[in-house]
Amino acid sequence: MGAFIFLFLLCVFCFQSKVTYATRCGDAGPEIHYPYQIKGQQQQHKSLPGFELLCKDNLTTIHFPSYGDLVVKSISYDTKNIHLLDPKNCAHHVFLNLNLSLTPFHYFYVLKNYTYLNCSTTLPHPLVEVPCLSASSYHVYTVDPAVPVPGSCDGVKTVAIPFAYSPYLSDKSLGLRLTWHLREPLDNEAAVNRTRGSYKSRNIVIGSSICVFVMAMLLLISMKVRGATRNLHQKEGQLLQS
Ligand SMILES: *[C@@H]1O[C@H](CO)[C@@H](O)[C@H](O)[C@H]1NC(C)=O
Ligand SMILES: *[C@@H]1O[C@H](CO)[C@@H](O)[C@H](O)[C@H]1NC(C)=O
Ligand SMILES: *[C@@H]1O[C@H](CO)[C@@H](O)[C@H](O)[C@H]1NC(C)=O
Ligand SMILES: *[C@@H]1O[C@H](CO)[C@@H](O)[C@H](O)[C@H]1NC(C)=O
Ligand SMILES: *[C@@H]1O[C@H](CO)[C@@H](O)[C@H](O)[C@H]1NC(C)=O
Repeated sequence: MGAFIFLFLLCVFCFQSKVTYATRCGDAGPEIHYPYQIKGQQQQHKSLPGFELLCKDNLTTIHFPSYGDLVVKSISYDTKNIHLLDPKNCAHHVFLNLNLSLTPFHYFYVLKNYTYLNCSTTLPHPLVEVPCLSASSYHVYTVDPAVPVPGSCDGVKTVAIPFAYSPYLSDKSLGLRLTWHLREPLDNEAAVNRTRGSYKSRNIVIGSSICVFVMAMLLLISMKVRGATRNLHQKEGQLLQS
């Protein structure tokens, strides 16, 4: 009986860990479910363009054609917020190149236009060069687009970004929060229904497992009690006979 219960618990445990394992990259990655999907994994819903994630060395990554791969640090499904990290540790390199116009994403922040300048000489204080975009022979700055371009600089691009470079805001993941919107409301509703359905079926499985377990326990207890009363009756009989 004890062995049976042990095996049963093992089964429940395996089943549950299998369900949750399928929705993460590695052990510490963010949970992945609708509208996201791990590319190449068994399809739970029709994959939505832009929402495909990749597992690379236990890291969750997302590919942007305009930039390349970014690491997914976390996903908040209720606030529709995906927090990314640049593997090259250069948020301003991402801001300069990332073009979200053909993706379901936009920045989670209020944006402002800044011009990236590429200068052959350093510019005076308070301007500070973006270290990860600069080298000894050139210096890259983010400036207000209204500022006239100095003679030693080329204007690289004017882009709407969360903030200008500041040495005080040099956290590698700062600013790399995006939010998403879904394009096909009908398809999505069906998919949400399906996700709800899959949660429901998972809950039913877990619920019925617990139910069977409780019943097994009750059976065990009742057998013990019956055994004990039988022993008692036997003892009583022996006492009466003697
Ligand atoms: C990924 O995680 C698993 C389990 O934690 C570990 O066995 C494996 O070595 C990891 N792979 C890499 C490439 O880090
Ligand atoms: C982003 O891509 C779209 C479409 O390819 C293009 O029209 C737009 O100019 C690009 N934006 C920037 C800032 O490069
Ligand atoms: C940035 O500049 C472009 C072109 O002048 C303009 O269309 C856009 O609205 C501006 N974006 C912001 C956030 O100010
Ligand atoms: C700045 O210019 C240098 C060469 O002058 C070039 O190698 C570098 O890629 C440029 N950087 C940017 C961000 O445009
Ligand atoms: C989703 O489920 C709700 C109720 O559960 C239903 O009214 C709705 O029609 C469903 N949508 C689709 C697209 O199946």
